[in-house]
Amino acid sequence: MSERLLTPFIIIALVLGGLWALRSTNSSSVTLALDMVPLVTGDEPIEEIFTKAGCAVCHTVPGIPGADGRVGPPLLLGATGPARLTDPSYRGQAKTVHQYVMESVLEPGLFVVPGYPAGTMPTWYGAKLSALALEKIAAYLELQGATVVP
Ligand code: HEC
Repeated sequence: MSERLLTPFIIIALVLGGLWALRSTNSSSVTLALDMVPLVTGDEPIEEIFTKAGCAVCHTVPGIPGADGRVGPPLLLGATGPARLTDPSYRGQAKTVHQYVMESVLEPGLFVVPGYPAGTMPTWYGAKLSALALEKIAAYLELQGATVVP
């Protein structure tokens, strides 16, 4: 086989290797580059929104198959959200858990969850998620981990 024919295969092998390395990494060294994430319109099923956007790489999300990342906190905002808003070091503008989720996705640096690495969650989600996708993410996450009151 000529070199010209082999080149595409080598490129494909390198890309697959890179993806595999990302998949099997379980530490704060995980990074997600802007051009690795397609535009998420919000018309996708909810599980696809989380996987397409790459959230699943870093976060565990209940009810989302394959979302078992451990770089960031498990997304149980129904349980943890209220405490974030009253945390003395919280400096954001959110008044509700729904708003807190949106804020955390658009401006992750505003509040860093204690025990988790700063500067790790991508800061460019505002350019990748439509308003509808963001709305669906917030609506889903604000319910996770909440205690059902009978
Ligand atoms: C490269 C890893 C990475 C990716 C990808 C990522 N996150 Fe995060 N995320 C983190 C880390 C680390 C934290 C904790 C530190 C912080 O608060 O910035 C975090 C924090 C959060 C928080 C605050 C959680 C809390 O308990 O207060 C929310 C909400 C969140 N991420 C949602 C998302 C969503 C939704 C996506 C996909 C659109 C996403 N993240 C993609 C790493 C990531």
